[in-house]
Amino acid sequence: MEKYETHVHDVLVIGAGGAGLRAAIEASARGASVGLVCKSLLGKAHTVMAEGGIAAALANVDPQDNWKTHFRDTMLGGKMLNNWRMALIHAQEAPDRVKELEEWGALFDRTKDGRILQRAFGGHSWRRLCHVGDRTGLEMIRTLQERGIHSGIDVYMECTITKLFKDGERISGAFGYWRESGRFVVFKAKAIVLATGGIGKVYKITSNSWEYTGDGHALAYEAGAELIDMEFVQFHPTGMVWPPGVRGILVTEAVRGEGGILRNAKGERFMERYDPKRMELSTRDVVARAIYTEVKEGRGSPHGGAFLDISHKGADFIKKKLPSMYHQFLELADVDITKMPMEVGPTTHYIMGGVRVDPENGASTVPGLFAAGEVAGGMHGANRLGGNSLSDLLVFGRRAGWGAAEYAKEIGDNTLKINEEDIEKAARELLQPFENADGANPYIVHQTLQETMQDYFGVFRVEDGLKKGLEELEKIKRTASRLKIEGSRLFNPGWHLCADLKSMLIVSEAIAKSALFRKESRGAHSRVDYPESDPEWGKYNTVIWREGEEMKVGRRPVPEMPDELKQLFTEVK
Ligand code: FUM
Repeated sequence: MEKYETHVHDVLVIGAGGAGLRAAIEASARGASVGLVCKSLLGKAHTVMAEGGIAAALANVDPQDNWKTHFRDTMLGGKMLNNWRMALIHAQEAPDRVKELEEWGALFDRTKDGRILQRAFGGHSWRRLCHVGDRTGLEMIRTLQERGIHSGIDVYMECTITKLFKDGERISGAFGYWRESGRFVVFKAKAIVLATGGIGKVYKITSNSWEYTGDGHALAYEAGAELIDMEFVQFHPTGMVWPPGVRGILVTEAVRGEGGILRNAKGERFMERYDPKRMELSTRDVVARAIYTEVKEGRGSPHGGAFLDISHKGADFIKKKLPSMYHQFLELADVDITKMPMEVGPTTHYIMGGVRVDPENGASTVPGLFAAGEVAGGMHGANRLGGNSLSDLLVFGRRAGWGAAEYAKEIGDNTLKINEEDIEKAARELLQPFENADGANPYIVHQTLQETMQDYFGVFRVEDGLKKGLEELEKIKRTASRLKIEGSRLFNPGWHLCADLKSMLIVSEAIAKSALFRKESRGAHSRVDYPESDPEWGKYNTVIWREGEEMKVGRRPVPEMPDELKQLFTEVK
């Protein structure tokens, strides 16, 4: 009899957003027995926060569009730090993944002649975003979920994974707990796909909900995988700023894609000063910096943001194209966006950095460990274009599911072992906060962490602040090494937060060290002390890895793009 509840699968997928679901569907279709673990309820994923659309060069609205222009836009948006092979695969495969989603039942908005409708988004040269009003991510999750539950996948809901196990160098399983009962669970698996999404909850202002604590980034790091480009955190330019309880909630870029205009308190259309050509449809890094600067220089809206106005489009148009935004502002802020502007400001939305993977199959540097979606790095370089996340999830979720299933086949019947002592250690570590006679309150530690990250590692960064921030993080780490929690293991969010804090501290340190390391400004990483992009730094991805108990930072050359692709950057649109 095993001491802990145990499940056995060929492939275990951790995370059930777009990437996790797509990976699970693919691995199952290729004959693997698949377990899908979700921290929350199935269907509740940050994927739904990519509201405005899926980027894919279908050329339904702008016939000039093709994979080449999509590839070029993605690389230019990422300031050429992207893994070119990932960006290429993504641009070439996204249209097929969208059509497949449609075959599986996704109901897209339509052109007059019945094709999938596409809209404009920042940094995309053509109208490229296939959408369902402003609920595209939701429709995508609905469709994948529907497909997934009929694929013979075992779904484990409300389960948090805290540790990956290895047999020698190979992945052999994972350890976690049920959020409701607090009981422990062991998963034996030949391959694991991380699809845990992002890290937003390390910041105070974020569009992410409670699940997004960087678990996959931390699990991979602890298992010995490399993380790349962790300094590149995307601050989406438009989150709600008022009332305080809803600060950070996403205001989709589709508002600007459909003609929304940004103004400051003086009524100036300030994007004229920052990107006169693309204006509101500039890339997210540029628009976020613009709003931040307007506020800092005293031209902000009453609650510290900018005004975003779409009311000139009329009520019928707004209710049809942006129904969620209409209801969101009416219900949460008492603002009728058909009549008045919204107040918006930057909100932590996404991290470009993540696990270094093989572009072909999502394999990390640890045998048996795969990653897809936001937890994987490389695809988006220094700045992601809006809408490229949903297509990324589909393209690389499929590839990682496929890669994991193939790897599991190769392992065959060789039974990988999980060391009993590793299981006991994982259990002891989780229970420690109950044992401590005294210690810090996890909620206070989390609040301090969020303030530190917001203050020192935000839209603009500077050497002194980064160093001070790192010192603060060291203090927080020391405090967090002794947390105290009361109550029982039965649904105890304070206890859950203790586990999440461990992940959050790892990703925060990775962001901090990478941000201090990169001495230039590029994409979402803006150094006040190094305001220009430096061509020398442009040749390298930042790398984070573990050496004993120490987190190391270094750099590795960006993979060299073949000449025929370089050619695309000399051609004029
Ligand atoms: O603004 C949005 O609808 C978000 C899209 C994305 O992050 O890709």
